[in-house]
Amino acid sequence: MPDTITIIDDRTGKKVTVPITGGVFPSSAIRELDPDLYMYDPAYLSTAACRSAITFIDGDAGILRYRGYPIEQLAEHSSFLEVAYLLLKGELPNAEQLATWTHDVTHHTFIHENMRKRFVDGFHYDAHPVGMFISAVAALGTFYEDAKDIFDADAREKQILRLIAKVPTLAAMCHRFSVGLPFVYPNNALSYPANFLNMMWKVGDYELHPDLERAMDILFILHADHEQNCGTTAMRVIGSSQADPYSAVAGAAAALYGPLHGGANEAVVRMLEEIGSYENVPAFIEDVKAGKGKLMGFGHRVYKNYDPRARIIKDAAYKVFDVTGKNPLLDIALKLEEAALDDEYFKSRRLYPNVDFYSGLIYQAMGFPTDMFTVLFAIPRTAGWLAHWQELLGDKEQKISRPRQWYVGADERTYVPMTAR
Ligand code: CMC
Repeated sequence: MPDTITIIDDRTGKKVTVPITGGVFPSSAIRELDPDLYMYDPAYLSTAACRSAITFIDGDAGILRYRGYPIEQLAEHSSFLEVAYLLLKGELPNAEQLATWTHDVTHHTFIHENMRKRFVDGFHYDAHPVGMFISAVAALGTFYEDAKDIFDADAREKQILRLIAKVPTLAAMCHRFSVGLPFVYPNNALSYPANFLNMMWKVGDYELHPDLERAMDILFILHADHEQNCGTTAMRVIGSSQADPYSAVAGAAAALYGPLHGGANEAVVRMLEEIGSYENVPAFIEDVKAGKGKLMGFGHRVYKNYDPRARIIKDAAYKVFDVTGKNPLLDIALKLEEAALDDEYFKSRRLYPNVDFYSGLIYQAMGFPTDMFTVLFAIPRTAGWLAHWQELLGDKEQKISRPRQWYVGADERTYVPMTAR
C-alpha cells in the first residue's frame, strides 16, 4: 500500500499526491490545486502545526514520553531539574552536566526587590494568584536588557535559566502576599522543590518532610511538558512573532489558566466539595449526563485511555496522605471515578481521568489553597514551554503563526449616518 494521499479537486479534476509520513501529510499541497483554498479546522482538531522532537503521546494506548523516556521511569528515577535539562537539551545529563545545570538554576532564584516592593505589593489583597503570577512573569522581562536578544544563544540560555529559576520564587511570593505573610527569600542550599516549599510555608522554624519534597518533585516532572496543548500552542504562537520569552511564558500561563486546561485541577476540588458526600455521586453523574455541567478532571483531547500521569498521581497521593492525613475528598473522587468508568456515557466517549483529577487532592492535602493550583502547574510547565520556544526558534520551517479564516460576515455595504439608523 503506498504511503501517499491523493486529493482531487472535483471542480477542476486536478489532483495532487503527497506523502504521508508518521501519520501526517503536508496540507499546503491542497493549495497546489487552488492557491485560494484553505482547510477549515477550528480548534486544530486535525492539524499538526509543527514538527517536534520533545514529547510523544499515544492517546489510544495512554503513553507519554519525554525525549523518548517513558513518564513512569522519569517519575520513578529522575528529578524535575534533570527532566528540565532533558526537555531543553534532548539528552539526560551526566553527573557533571547536572551539577552545573543545578548550580546555574539555583543561582538565578532571586528576583529584583522592586518586583515585590513595587509590583506585587500593588495588587489588591485578594487578587487571584494566577493573575498575579501571569503579570509578574511578564513584568520580570522588563528587568533584563538582553531579554529580547532571542537569536543570541548565550542570552537565550540566560533567559531560560532565569525563568526556570525564578518562577517558584514568583509563585511563592504571590501566595505570601495573598495571605499577608512576609516574603521568604530563596535558599539555594535546598533542592528545587524544597526551596519552593520552603518559600511557601516557612514561618519561624519549618522542617520539610522528605516524602512531601519528593511528591512535589514528581508532580513537577509530570507537569513539565505535554506537547502541543493550549498553553504550549500559545507559547509557540507568541514566540513565532519573536516576542521575548517572558511575554510568551506569561501568555502561555494565561492560556493554562482556563478551567478546560490547567484550571481544571482547581475546578475538580470545587466540584468534589460541591458534591459533598459519597452518596451524592450517582445523582451528580446523572446531572453530567443530562448536560448540566462536566465531570471536571475527566476527558482529554488526545488521551482516549487512562492518562498515565493520573495513574502516577493517584499512587503518589497515598504517599502524601501517609504524611498529611487522608484528604476527605478522596472517597468522593474514588467513587466518582468508579461510577464514571462503569457508565456507558463515559465509556462510549472514551472519557478517563486526566492529570487534573487527583493532583488537586494532593495539593490540598499539602496545604496549598485552591487558587494556587494552576500556579503549581505553571512552574514546571515553564521548562516545557521554553523547550518548545527554543525548538521553534531553531526550526527553519516556522514562520509567524498566522492562520486564515472562513469569512462569514456581511458583504460590502454603505456606511449609514447616525440620523438614518
Ligand atoms: N464530562 C462530561 N462529558 C464530557 C467531558 C467531561 N469531562 N469531556 C468531554 N465530554 C463529552 C462532550 O460533551 C462530548 O460529548 P458529545 O459527543 O455528546 O457532544 C464528548 O465527550 C467529546 O468531548 P469534546 O468536548 O468534543 O472533547 P474535546 O477534545 O474538545 O475536549 C476537554 C477535551 C479536556 C476540554 C474535555 O474533555 C473537558 O472539558 N474536560 C473537563 C475539563 C478538564 O478536565 N480539563 C483538563 C484537561 S487535561 C490537562 C490540561 O489540559 O491541562
